[in-house]
Amino acid sequence: MRSLDDLLAEGVSGRRVLVRADLNVPLDKQTREITDDGRIRASLPSIQALRDGGARVVVAAHLGRPKGTPDPQFSLAPVAARLGELLGTDVELAADVAGDDARAKAAALGDGDVLLLENVRFEAAETSKDDAERGELADRLAALADVYVDDAFGAVHRKHASVYDVALRLPHVAGRLVATELDVLTRLTSDPARPYVVVLGGSKVSDKLAVIEALLPKVDRLLVGGGMCFTFLAAQGHGVGTSLLEADQVDTCRRLLAEAGDRIVLPVDVVAASAFSADAETAVVDVDAIPDDRMGLDVGPRTVEVFGRELGGARTVFWNGPMGVFEMAPFQAGTRGVAQAVAAVDGLSVVGGGDSAAAVRTLGLDEAAYGHISTGGGASLEYLEGRELPGLAVLTEGGAA
Ligand code: 3PG
Repeated sequence: MRSLDDLLAEGVSGRRVLVRADLNVPLDKQTREITDDGRIRASLPSIQALRDGGARVVVAAHLGRPKGTPDPQFSLAPVAARLGELLGTDVELAADVAGDDARAKAAALGDGDVLLLENVRFEAAETSKDDAERGELADRLAALADVYVDDAFGAVHRKHASVYDVALRLPHVAGRLVATELDVLTRLTSDPARPYVVVLGGSKVSDKLAVIEALLPKVDRLLVGGGMCFTFLAAQGHGVGTSLLEADQVDTCRRLLAEAGDRIVLPVDVVAASAFSADAETAVVDVDAIPDDRMGLDVGPRTVEVFGRELGGARTVFWNGPMGVFEMAPFQAGTRGVAQAVAAVDGLSVVGGGDSAAAVRTLGLDEAAYGHISTGGGASLEYLEGRELPGLAVLTEGGAA
């Protein structure tokens, strides 16, 4: 896989470079303001290095999951503004993805300038399963530039036109962020220092079963919190009240618990609430005493202690998924406690993307205390599952070198 440094060594002055970045940041529902700009900041090193080399930079990115047609609420306009602030230069936003406006604006770029294309998912072809449809969009994207840099680590698990097909059409290299993410994930998968402890949270256990199966033989402890823990607790025979439960996964969770023995560690107490609301009545209850009319929305303080002890002895930690509904103040303590314990790990600590990375930042924790905060939630999980990621495979094998 060629690197950005290889490209810079060739010289990029005056060349048009298409950078696929993952700028999929959370926005406030009412104000449309960016609530966590971590992914934009993580994309700066590649873009800045290209600008410094005199490249004319065309950035492609997605935001949310629009339905394949322009939709103002998914416009990248707030992202263009923030990217410009962080780079200290104006970043123009094209009115389309790879149409007349994008072509005109890309052609008008000067050395060191940056253009952001509108949300690539405004074109249905971006996510199409049909190779020819994706190919037609990839042709138009490729025509905007001379060379392609994939720096969208958070999207490398997607076989999308701007992630995969465009790399078949242009000389391509991996950007700085992709290189850093791969470096850290390789350290997790090849001979991690032990004990190796993984913490998984988030709402749906069905999303995490594949990674649990893949990780169980490799980890010393797997700590499970978040909404997904209730299906495991139900598999242990506990009543879970009105908590999130995936009844069709209970048998699988029971089998995993039987296979894993004491390597899977479940909560011992939870914060049970009368409703999914910040104003709900709450009480800390043991997991064998969750009232029928209450829902668990966070792990409890004794669980934080139990998880903290396991993390305290770990030398390698990977954490993905919040322990509770941390967006609401009464249900933050579990995620905060685990985040602090992960930060204190004496060894490699990796926060795996998406919600957990946002939790670290929105809870005001010190990002520098972690070995690495990944930008890719789904991508890092699929990597750890051992799956082939199309956006990486194409950089290694496919297309023009
Ligand atoms: C993410 O948020 O994990 C990436 O930006 C990929 O987004 P997606 O899950 O909508 O493909």
